[in-house]
Amino acid sequence: MLTLQKDYPLKSLNTFGFDTVAENFIEIESRDRLVALVNYCQSNHFPLLVLGGGSNLILSDQIPGVVARMQIKGVEVISEQGDQLQLKVAAGENWHDIVVYAMSQGFFGLENLALIPGTVGAAPMQNIGAYGVELKDRVAWVDVLDTQTHQLLSLSSFDCQFSYRDSVFKSVEPGRYIITDVVFNLTRDATQLNLEYLALKDTCESLAKGLSITPYHVFDAVCQLRRQKLPDPAVIGNVGSFFKNPRVCVAEYERLKAEFPALVGFADGDGYKLAAGWLIEACGWKGKQLNAVGVYEKQALVLVNRGKGDRQQIETLAEQIRESVQQRFGVLLEVEPRFYP
Ligand code: EPU
Repeated sequence: MLTLQKDYPLKSLNTFGFDTVAENFIEIESRDRLVALVNYCQSNHFPLLVLGGGSNLILSDQIPGVVARMQIKGVEVISEQGDQLQLKVAAGENWHDIVVYAMSQGFFGLENLALIPGTVGAAPMQNIGAYGVELKDRVAWVDVLDTQTHQLLSLSSFDCQFSYRDSVFKSVEPGRYIITDVVFNLTRDATQLNLEYLALKDTCESLAKGLSITPYHVFDAVCQLRRQKLPDPAVIGNVGSFFKNPRVCVAEYERLKAEFPALVGFADGDGYKLAAGWLIEACGWKGKQLNAVGVYEKQALVLVNRGKGDRQQIETLAEQIRESVQQRFGVLLEVEPRFYP
C-alpha cells in the first residue's frame, strides 16, 4: 500500500534550504513500490517529482502532486576481469558515501568526483563533473523505469546522451525515465590517475611529498580544493555552480581576450569554454547580497541562501547577473540547476 503524507515540508530535503511544501510526499525503498507509485500518479493525473539529494533543484513554495524521495539502497560488484570491475549502485545511495566506499575497497575511478552533494541516481541527470572527470567517463549503463512503457530498462552510456552538465534525463526526455541504479566501470589499478586540472596536480604533489601520487592523494586533494572554494550546503544553502561555463567560438574568444586580457577560458573542442565565475566576478557580483540570497564570496559561480531566501529571490538575482554579464561581455549565461515545477 502506498501511504502519502500530506503537506510535507521539504526544507531539509533541498540544499538551498527553501521553505517549500509538497502536496504529497512518500519515500520509495524498492523498485516494486516505484512502479506502483508511477501507476498511481498516472491514473490520478498527479505530477511526480523524484527527489534525490535535492542538491540541483530550485523549488517553488508549493509543489503540486507527489514528491517521492528515492531511497532504494544497495551496492555490489557485478563483474570483474583482471583489474577492471563493474560496481552497481542503487539510486538512493549518497554520492560521496559511495566514493568513500569504493576507495575503501580499492576500486578507483571516482576520486576526482569526491564530495559532490547529492545521490547516485541524480548524478547522471546533469552528468556531474569536477577536476577533469565527468560521470560519463565512468558509467557503463544506467537502469531506469520508463514511465511511458512501464518497463525496467538498461540505457547504455551512449543512450544516456551525456554532454557537459546534460543528458537524456535532463533535457531530451525530462521526466520520462526514473533512474534506479547506475553501473560504474572502475579499476583496481592505482596508477590510472586524471591530474589534468592544474591545481589538483599541484595539491597532489604537495600531499605525496615526493612519493608517487595515488588515488587516495587525489581524493584528499579534491576534498581540500572543494572545501576551500565551495560552501557546505549543510551550513550555507546552495546548489553548487548556478550557471554553466558558456561555450564560445574561437573568433568570439579572441575578440573578448583582446578586449579583456585577464579573461579565463579553456580550449574545448572547436571553441572555448569561458569561466563563468570570472565573468560574474568581473561584473562586481562576488560577495554581493540581494535580500536573503547572494553570490558566494569565494566562488562567484555559486549563489547562496543566507536565510529566508526563496525561488523568487534567486530568480531575480540570477536574472540581474545574466543581464550584466550579457551587457558587458555579450555572453549569455545558462542556468545549470533544474527549476521545479
Ligand atoms: N574564477 C574567477 N572568479 C570566481 C570563480 C572562478 O575568476 O569567482 C576563475 C578562476 O580563474 C578559475 C576559473 O574561473 O581558475 C575556473 O574556476 P574553478 O576551477 O573554480 O572552476 P569553475 O569553472 O568555476 C567548474 C565546475 C565545478 C567544478 C569545478 C572544478 C561548472 C559549471 N562548474 O567550476 O562544478 O567543481 O569546475 O572542476 O562546470 C558544480 O557543477 O556544481 C560544480 C561546483
